[in-house]
Amino acid sequence: MKKTILGIESSCDDTSASIIQDGFLLSNVIANQEVHKIYGGVVPELASRAHQQNIIPVVDSAIKIAGLSKSDIDAVAFTRGPGLLGSLLVGTSFAKGFALFNNIPLVEVNHLQAHVLSHFIMEKGADNQLPTFPFLCLLVSGGHTQIILVKDYFEMEIIGQTIDDAAGEAFDKCAKIMGLPYPGGPFVDKYSKDGNPLAFKFTKPKVPGFDYSYSGFKTAFLYFIRDQIKNDTNFIEKNLNDLCASIQFTIIEILLDKLKLAIKETRVKQVAIGGGVSANSGLRNSIHDLSLKMNFKAFIPEFRYTTDNAAMIAITGYHKFLKGQFVGQDITPLARMTF
Ligand code: KG4
Ligand code: ZN
Repeated sequence: MKKTILGIESSCDDTSASIIQDGFLLSNVIANQEVHKIYGGVVPELASRAHQQNIIPVVDSAIKIAGLSKSDIDAVAFTRGPGLLGSLLVGTSFAKGFALFNNIPLVEVNHLQAHVLSHFIMEKGADNQLPTFPFLCLLVSGGHTQIILVKDYFEMEIIGQTIDDAAGEAFDKCAKIMGLPYPGGPFVDKYSKDGNPLAFKFTKPKVPGFDYSYSGFKTAFLYFIRDQIKNDTNFIEKNLNDLCASIQFTIIEILLDKLKLAIKETRVKQVAIGGGVSANSGLRNSIHDLSLKMNFKAFIPEFRYTTDNAAMIAITGYHKFLKGQFVGQDITPLARMTF
């Protein structure tokens, strides 16, 4: 008997639904919310309203694209947290209603675990090389920067994390200082391609162990730009590519310094990256180069699995389904959630 899971993701500003059958992706539909662009960041109240509008058509399309009907679905998995509470409530309530109406089990998913487990999504016709346990995962998003030792599907240990800002925040805040649109990470990546990464040098933080810090770097960049603008009001425009390349270079160096340390200490031979920042071309290239130097197998996700998506929720739900890990109708979302 085939096992078919509907996954629902609504933790931030993407409404997404996906169907995974026996570990293979059948559909992954994402509705992005354009409404936040003019505000320079996600507005929680607007995000929940947009989720409310999007969720039914998105789920409908995911089921149609998969070539299935509602009665083919064996369980519904949803993001319980972490995320914006109002956004999570929409996905959670929808999933509960769907499970109740169709008389199928409900599976709760931790969004961060799902980013890690996105590496287990299989696709028809692809070579589907999956990591084996244990492996390390560098999880880098707008809200998180963590090195996770993944011992099993649901046995994960955070061995290092940021003590203040996340790497994605560092990208976005530096981009904002330079007047780039939100989220700035992809713009910094784009302009970096024509810039010199060594044009401007920024000091790196000194944090013990495998932990990270990005707030000092962000403040240093702010003061640096302020000083330069005093001498030349067109400083940013004149140096945009070099500034972006130098920021990106520093953020990645900080990420890799601790990752290298973790690889050495754990002696793990497989390293995955995940989260929105894993779409960064500089990070992807650096991980690839590092894998050759340090002799580990690198798992670099397809672009569509780097940012928030329901396929990662569905695959996580699938593995929980196999273990019979279900939750009841009294389940509530959690804005803060660890594992
Ligand atoms: O995982 P994600 O979609 O959302 C959460 O934060 O959970 O990550 C979004 C973050 C943003 O900070 C965005 O600027 C960053 O990922 N990002 C990038 C790139 N694409 C997305 N940062 C650098 N380079 C990119 N190409
Ligand atoms: Zn995410």
